[in-house]
Amino acid sequence: MKRIYLDNNATTMVSPAAAKELAKYQSIHYGNPSSLHSFGLDTRPELRKALDRIYRLINAADEDDVLITSGATEANNHVIKSIFLANQGSRKNHYITSNIEHPTVYNTFQYLEKLGAEVTYLPCAKNGLLYPEQIAAALKDSTALVSIMAANNEIGTILPVPEIAKICRGRKVLAHTDATQALGKFPVNARELGVDYLSFSAHKFHGPKGIGGLYIRQGKRLEPFFHGGEQMASLRAGTLNVPGIIGMGVAAAEALDGLDYEAAEVKRLRDKLENFILQNIPDTFLNGDKQRRTPNTLNVAFQDCEGEALLWDLNEHGIAASTGSACASEELESSRVLRALGIDKALSHMAVRFSLSRYTTEAEIDYVISVLPGIIKRLRAISSGGSM
Ligand SMILES: Cc1ncc(COP(=O)(O)O)c(C=O)c1O
Repeated sequence: MKRIYLDNNATTMVSPAAAKELAKYQSIHYGNPSSLHSFGLDTRPELRKALDRIYRLINAADEDDVLITSGATEANNHVIKSIFLANQGSRKNHYITSNIEHPTVYNTFQYLEKLGAEVTYLPCAKNGLLYPEQIAAALKDSTALVSIMAANNEIGTILPVPEIAKICRGRKVLAHTDATQALGKFPVNARELGVDYLSFSAHKFHGPKGIGGLYIRQGKRLEPFFHGGEQMASLRAGTLNVPGIIGMGVAAAEALDGLDYEAAEVKRLRDKLENFILQNIPDTFLNGDKQRRTPNTLNVAFQDCEGEALLWDLNEHGIAASTGSACASEELESSRVLRALGIDKALSHMAVRFSLSRYTTEAEIDYVISVLPGIIKRLRAISSGGSM
């Protein structure tokens, strides 16, 4: 059976070139870069090259720091909690975020609330957009940090981060963006975005899992989160994940080279699937903003067709997609993000996310198009109590 992977917002295939370097630095050049013998020294030129490539992908300036982390979860936790800790005892105790952030931001703020922080969760419009004026209105003298994601993982909506960062700068408030779903999908220029901090993760752009980073604008260094050795200029202790960093570097260079392809070809295939669904399968609804959206993401609700059941049937046909919902305890919860956008609870249970990558082929999309109407028809017949 064919296997078609349309869940690239969850994770991506490691690119062949990144996988090759990863293997090399796991088993041949396995030295610790802090060591002063040839095994350690051997790793340093490639490490430097990888960091350069990562700087280039996000357009960081030489004076900025890029802290290598275990991924975006760590980067998001680091920036939010470090700023909270740094402001203990001061009157800066207010934080602003949106109600559609990834759990690594959203739940971190919920935790800070338990520790006494005041957090404003700004409501996004139904298409996932947030208006910069909402930020301006929510800022207070006590605001320490504004954290708004660059692009949403479930619906792909691209948020107006440059405008938000500009408002923050004007009010001397720190700005962070979780750009995990942006890198490799559209150009990201940390300097032009104007943020102080930006999180990312390699496994979302065909790099390895367990590696990512936090961009830190010049002059905005944070207290270390992990104490220990002097790695990463003492900003993050721990033996460097050399294979991961080098693999991420290769993936970063490829992602930068592939941006035009992403904007044209990946988008064309996504649009082909989207247009087919919306024009040929009745009672289907697009979630997210049709225009301001990552080129690979399609979130669509099929009326009277339960999302989990649809995923199961797609999987039976070899197609991997996602609902974006999580199994919370024994109850199947619908997506927090879709509910936050005011999408009817029943309909949010019927949403499915297809996320493409540069490895998605036209033949794969044609195959999905050929089987999807039959699957939906069958599931709708079951849900209406009929039989096939
Ligand atoms: C928007 C966003 N932020 C953060 C994360 C967490 O990234 P990581 O898996 O690198 O910890 C993800 C991954 O699902 C994400 O999509």
